[in-house]
Amino acid sequence: MGSRDLAAGKAAVADLLGGFEDGAECSVIAVQLDVTDDASVKAAAKEISEYLGKGRGLDILVNNAGVLLQKSDNEEEKYDAAKGRKTVEVNFEGTVRVTEAMMPLLLLQRGGGSGVEECGQLEEAAHVVNVSSGVGTRTLARIRPEQRAALVDASLELPALREFCAAALAELEKDESSPYHAIPTVSYGISKLAVNCYTQMMARRYGAACRKDGDEAENAASNAALASAAASTTAKPRGTARVVRFNAASPGFTNTRMCDGYTGERQPKSPSLGASVFRDVLFSDLGKGKNGKFFKQADKAGTQLRDASSREEPWVAL
Ligand SMILES: NC(=O)c1ccc[n+]([C@@H]2O[C@H](COP(=O)([O-])OP(=O)(O)OC[C@H]3O[C@@H](n4cnc5c(N)ncnc54)[C@H](OP(=O)(O)O)[C@@H]3O)[C@@H](O)[C@H]2O)c1
Repeated sequence: MGSRDLAAGKAAVADLLGGFEDGAECSVIAVQLDVTDDASVKAAAKEISEYLGKGRGLDILVNNAGVLLQKSDNEEEKYDAAKGRKTVEVNFEGTVRVTEAMMPLLLLQRGGGSGVEECGQLEEAAHVVNVSSGVGTRTLARIRPEQRAALVDASLELPALREFCAAALAELEKDESSPYHAIPTVSYGISKLAVNCYTQMMARRYGAACRKDGDEAENAASNAALASAAASTTAKPRGTARVVRFNAASPGFTNTRMCDGYTGERQPKSPSLGASVFRDVLFSDLGKGKNGKFFKQADKAGTQLRDASSREEPWVAL
């Protein structure tokens, strides 16, 4: 479990393990991790690799770190460019930075590491779940149609996604009449839109080796790209091409520190109800073998955990 403040992370781990009955098999370790700091992220990847031991990979990565620095309750508040940049830096670039650092470990995972010919089943591959938000799908629906078309196109690559974020933030900063100012929690929306597009991009790239549909030549090309990506990792996994699957999931409006100061009428749900989406996507049929999907915790505040339900939702909330 990554945490900026290691002491706070260790306290959270102790708290978490204290909730388990004696004898329950559970192991959690705290790792120092600031997703905006290259050195911290690289050191965390090294520590995890050493903890796992030689040749052992990572099964699951959940990119959860996130900030909401400007809320939309206060309509008087002017757009703050520094907060906008920080939001994208933590939510989107942090997700990219951590994912890239963990890729060698994810590519080593048993299912992902069994090579194209044998992999067959996506459900055996390592699984990255990016914590996102319906705000991202709603923001994607509200940007200019030509920008949306480029972002949902299968040819999208990271530089173009970064360019979109930079251009949108610059427009918000320099043009007070930009229609983008009307998008609620706009910089958070752009950051989560970017997380969503990144999730789909990575799902296309790393899930392609197991794709049963599609063009054979195209599959062969993505397998070749995968093989070269795998060969360039320091972990040097064996085999030809590797598979990792990528999905995004949102807890929905949840009563965490992100809600501090919220005065609206809508009731946020409990953290355990919100977090049930991750349990369902990672460990139940909902997410089994899925790749390139967006899932959302679907219940209202007050729903009992035993009745919790999550579902797949579209990437664009039109
Ligand atoms: N709450 C909601 O209604 C809601 C809805 C949809 C999606 N989400 C998403 O859920 C995720 C978790 O948020 P939350 O609701 O649990 O809010 P939260 O209580 O504010 O938690 C945010 C977490 O992100 C961590 N973080 C922030 N910046 C970081 C950085 N640079 N490096 C590492 N960790 C960093 C914080 O660490 P510290 O403890 O060090 O501050 C904190 O643990 C976020 O991605 C958020 O966007 C939340």
